Amino acid sequence: MAQNWTPSSWRQKPIQQLPEFPDKAALAATEAQLATFPPLVFAGEARRLKKQLASVAEGNAFLLQGGDCAESFVEHGADNIRDFFRSFLQMAVVLTYGAQLPVVKVGRIAGQFAKPRSSNVEVQGGVELPSYRGDIINGIEFSPESRIPDPERQMMAYRQSAATLNLLRAFAMGGYANLENVHKWMLGFVKDSPQGERYRKLADRISETMDFMTAIGITSENQPSLRETDFFTSHEALLLGYEEAFTRVDSTSGDWYATSGHMLWIGDRTRQLDHAHVEYFRGIKNPIGLKCGPSLQPDNLIELIDALNPANEAGRLTLICRFGHDKVAENLPKLIRAVEREGKKVVWSCDPMHGNTITLNNYKTRPFERILSEVESFFQIHRAEGTHPGGIHIEMTGKDVTECTGGARAVSAGDLQDRYHTHCDPRLNADQALELAFLLAERMKSGRDEKRMVVNG
Ligand code: PEP
Ligand code: CO
Repeated sequence: MAQNWTPSSWRQKPIQQLPEFPDKAALAATEAQLATFPPLVFAGEARRLKKQLASVAEGNAFLLQGGDCAESFVEHGADNIRDFFRSFLQMAVVLTYGAQLPVVKVGRIAGQFAKPRSSNVEVQGGVELPSYRGDIINGIEFSPESRIPDPERQMMAYRQSAATLNLLRAFAMGGYANLENVHKWMLGFVKDSPQGERYRKLADRISETMDFMTAIGITSENQPSLRETDFFTSHEALLLGYEEAFTRVDSTSGDWYATSGHMLWIGDRTRQLDHAHVEYFRGIKNPIGLKCGPSLQPDNLIELIDALNPANEAGRLTLICRFGHDKVAENLPKLIRAVEREGKKVVWSCDPMHGNTITLNNYKTRPFERILSEVESFFQIHRAEGTHPGGIHIEMTGKDVTECTGGARAVSAGDLQDRYHTHCDPRLNADQALELAFLLAERMKSGRDEKRMVVNG
């Protein structure tokens, strides 16, 4: 067990991004009540995910992590959850085929509410108010009342997370995630996409594989693995008072686990070695993520790895790299080399969203080509270094929003105003997300073909 650690030892450390709750007594009462509520996930599930991530670290699986930048109370509903899950599973099938590896599925969902902000204030029409920090903390509406941090919101976030997770579990295990369904949805996408012809070849090969399986008698009727899927939840554990309330001892192992989600990550703005977030994370046994932005230097990364994964356990730590399409070549190789030199076991994942945000017509957006370009560079760099590009981490929705530009339907700067619904950062819409999966699968496949030619040649 971590030395001198308790679920509340983070309170003795300096902390970034902590909202100022005016009513401290109400906050303490809320946290005390949350601590009596049932956990959302249990330790055995977190261990199962860690095992799957260990397989990613060893090069034998691929991680797909994605969902909203910020979940919101107003967007909570069955249709949104269903549509997200549907898009996500289609991506997973396409990537499974592309990578020829099992895909570990982790949603940014059922708890992804708290947002770090670059500025403490927001100015609109000459009026300055505290920034919006996510629905678990304050309201997005631009009024002084709405921007006051309110502990009651943590109750709502918990209830919403529980309801979301409940539906996801039903979808994952109740037959909705059936591979034959997912395959049908994917064919629908290929048929309707303006770039459909380009994706058809890959889609046809998936169809042939499915026909072959059916012919030899492998169907979802007799194979649970074709009708059920493992699906895990994750979020940025920013609001540590909330996380502390859900930090529980696992009766099987006697270890501490965060039970607000299966996997938690530390944001790029809160990863200071001697600060509160690193302190909290070092004591929980869940699989965890660490966002790695351009300011992270190799020595600092190694110190963080030592603090967060002292036993060098594979699957414990995922490095989520988010440099920007034009900065990845300068930043990623030096981190990979340091990690390799020190023999650290990590999952390398690429977040191609957070380093590629620009402003167009007053909207924060992300060009699809830059997102694709960062992931491509990530793959190429790993290939050159001889390491495994373990996964991707994206912001996406199952809806037809207009938040990121580009893609086959060519969302333009002028289209952004049509359906710009995000509460925080711009997300890939359902088509853009699946397109990204197809384009990556295509490249992974051609990478494998090249390798095969070298081996056989
Ligand atoms: C996020 O993932 O939404 C986020 C804020 O990322 P980062 O910490 O990498 O900026
Ligand atoms: Co974001």
